Amino acid sequence: MISLKGWSYAVPVPVETPDECKWYHTMDLPQFGTQFGDWDLRGRWADYTGGVDVRGKSVLDVGTANGWVTFEAERHGAGEVLALDAADPTRFQRVPHRNCPPDERPEYFAEPFERWKRGFWLAHKLYDSKAKAVYGDVYELAEHVTGADVVIVGQILVHLRDALGALLQCARVAGETLVIVEGSFEADRPLAVFVGGGAGTENQYSWFHFSSGLYRDYLSILGFRVTSVSRHTYHCLSARCETEVWTTVATRFAPTPAD
Ligand SMILES: C[S@@+](CC[C@H](N)C(=O)[O-])C[C@H]1O[C@@H](n2cnc3c(N)ncnc32)[C@H](O)[C@@H]1O
Repeated sequence: MISLKGWSYAVPVPVETPDECKWYHTMDLPQFGTQFGDWDLRGRWADYTGGVDVRGKSVLDVGTANGWVTFEAERHGAGEVLALDAADPTRFQRVPHRNCPPDERPEYFAEPFERWKRGFWLAHKLYDSKAKAVYGDVYELAEHVTGADVVIVGQILVHLRDALGALLQCARVAGETLVIVEGSFEADRPLAVFVGGGAGTENQYSWFHFSSGLYRDYLSILGFRVTSVSRHTYHCLSARCETEVWTTVATRFAPTPAD
């Protein structure tokens, strides 16, 4: 059973219509129909999560955005689901390109960030979801959250400067299974590639992709054995193309070490 220490469950935000929201996930909403978002994952639960069986399990959705993973976990029989997202946009870590001064970043991201949250709460209401949400910081996760059987880490690591530190936090919380869904590449060597771009190709949103060998080796240090790796393409509206994402499923074989 999932418990919180020092963080509180979020109070649902009252939202009436999709116009008040921003859509990261494409969502089919009762009453309002399809809301098109950046990523269309509809019908792809098994692909996205590597077919993990969540029936009766406690599930933590790390970096929930509009909550597609949360609501699908619920629909697929999870016993309880907790959605985590950032407490405020200052938690976002952008690649500090010169064309985006640090002081401007919180304002720049505050508005869409609040609208993503509204999307979560509108969907939560319309789906009659029992899932809970908490707003905090993935870097502090294990101090505040315990008891998830399955932790799903979907496309958040790429946005973090210390993704391996964040993954350590997620591993500490995951009792049985870690599901990591990220851009990756095949290499036996444990490699990290910087994908933030250089001059002229500034990408503020992305830091690193890790190789399959890095996930294997690092997860083993954290007490997890990789049981499956699969790759699928999904329609990404913001990238205007089908984008390949890898799903790594890992099962606990030993306790995660202390720092
Ligand atoms: C790209 S979305 C991923 C959405 C979803 N997990 C999925 O797989 O489709 C990344 C999410 O991580 C959240 N996020 C970014 N930095 C965070 C942090 N430090 N702590 C918690 N959440 C964070 C963002 O607000 C956003 O909702």
